[in-house]
Amino acid sequence: QDDKFKKVISHAKEYGYVFQSSEIYDGLSAVYDYAQNGAELKKNIRDYWWKAMVQMNENIVGIDAAIFMHPTTWKASGHVDAFNDPLIDNKDSKKRYRADVLIEDYCAKIEAKIDKEVAKAEKRFGEAFNKEEFLATNGRVVGYQEKINATLSRMGQSLEKEDLADVKALIEELEIADPLTGSRNWTDVKQFNLMFGTKLGASAESAMDLYLRPETAQGIFVNFLNVQKTGRMKIPFGIAQTGKAFRNEIVARQFIFRMREFEQMEMQFFIKPGTQKEWYEHWKETRMKWHLSLGMGADNYRFHDHDKLAHYADAAADIEFKFPFGFKELEGIHSRTDFDLKAHEEFSGKKLQYFDHEENKSYVPYVLETSIGLDRMFLAVFSNALQEEELENGTTRTVLKLPSVLAPVKAAILPLVKKDGLPEVARKIVEELKWDFNVIYDEKDAVGRRYRRQDANGTPFCITVDHDTLNDNTVTIRHRDSMEQERVNIADLQKIIKQEVDV
Ligand code: GAP
Repeated sequence: QDDKFKKVISHAKEYGYVFQSSEIYDGLSAVYDYAQNGAELKKNIRDYWWKAMVQMNENIVGIDAAIFMHPTTWKASGHVDAFNDPLIDNKDSKKRYRADVLIEDYCAKIEAKIDKEVAKAEKRFGEAFNKEEFLATNGRVVGYQEKINATLSRMGQSLEKEDLADVKALIEELEIADPLTGSRNWTDVKQFNLMFGTKLGASAESAMDLYLRPETAQGIFVNFLNVQKTGRMKIPFGIAQTGKAFRNEIVARQFIFRMREFEQMEMQFFIKPGTQKEWYEHWKETRMKWHLSLGMGADNYRFHDHDKLAHYADAAADIEFKFPFGFKELEGIHSRTDFDLKAHEEFSGKKLQYFDHEENKSYVPYVLETSIGLDRMFLAVFSNALQEEELENGTTRTVLKLPSVLAPVKAAILPLVKKDGLPEVARKIVEELKWDFNVIYDEKDAVGRRYRRQDANGTPFCITVDHDTLNDNTVTIRHRDSMEQERVNIADLQKIIKQEVDV
């Protein structure tokens, strides 16, 4: 699995998807740049989300709020007081770790042991193997699972009451070691605020302390009434936005999974108080359907309902995805009650109420939130797509089986040879198709190598112009996943590609 993840990272670099930021200066930890293909893939994911959330729902509108917000926003939202992570220092290595990440790692190691037991039993029992039954009855596995549950529950309790001594005791009791040095010499646990601070204004005296937003959600809350009134929105309705968020993550690792600068795609759905349970279920289901619509395999997703809730929520669940390093949070669905709007009323002194004509009364709406990290979605899509296939002739091919709707380049147009007028015909096809799709022209190397290059790049179609094309206006279209080739009319290309890449 480690191996697979390494391949994902190096493929992302080699094929122009993700570069480390400021690489010529040896990079900046947990900050990444999206390269020529990455920017396209990211944009396509964002568009796919926006279409499903905003374009397809007449009661959801989109906004684009500023990253800088009035500093009181973060007092009202609770981020100044409660957006902390418990940090633990190691005396020997002088390294600092997030306690929850260390404990999560510990649980992941036990989970890996369970997986091993399952694989062993599966091999032994073959077709007769019943996984559910095995998980429920095998003594060793049940013991492992109990250990994980007990650890998570204790971690939940201590983090919730912010009892740092308890967090420290848990680390010591589980004999968790420094991942780098193996030493267990932990010192104190401290709380650390994750927001980045900056200053607005030129002179030191008058400068105002600001934060870079740690979530996009607050830009929606403070605009709630403006949007409701100018858009004449009726409850239930939603406001969506995508944009950058910043968190001073302590252990930022796992490539673009946990970054310091990242992008969120969030939607706040404003509802009548008392209806939150049904909307919570509705959005859990709707968001899962969105994920499944990409065809990346239902087995790769699962819900994780939270026992431990953030300060603003009365129910919360994650949609987890099977990344190369295991199941991890991809998206959160949170029932946020009226916590945020009430807090903004209190701190701003302005009413944030909705007049419900049907009920003939005003109230502060409840909020259901869906929040997904765009970079995390990128990693999910990219790592799932990267495959190595054994071909019949004994060779392997590296192929990036991106959902066609998300692929950065939809088709590569290839003249079989660089002469006899074939490049001109190929260029003409590019000129026509580029109005509708991102397409490229490639004439370098033998055609087989060009196919492989496009496979690795994730391009769903290769269109080859050969000498027959000059006589009958047909070309060969090759499908990335099946490698099947068919002969089609140039005039039909637009329709064929559209059928596959449009949703
Ligand atoms: N407004 C609610 C909110 O921000 P969250 O669970 O803290 O909730 C939502 O974040 C999503 O944002 C996560 O599910 C994850 O996909 C993404 N996310 C959070 N922190 C991230 C980070 N440091 N790097 C990349 N993505 C992150």
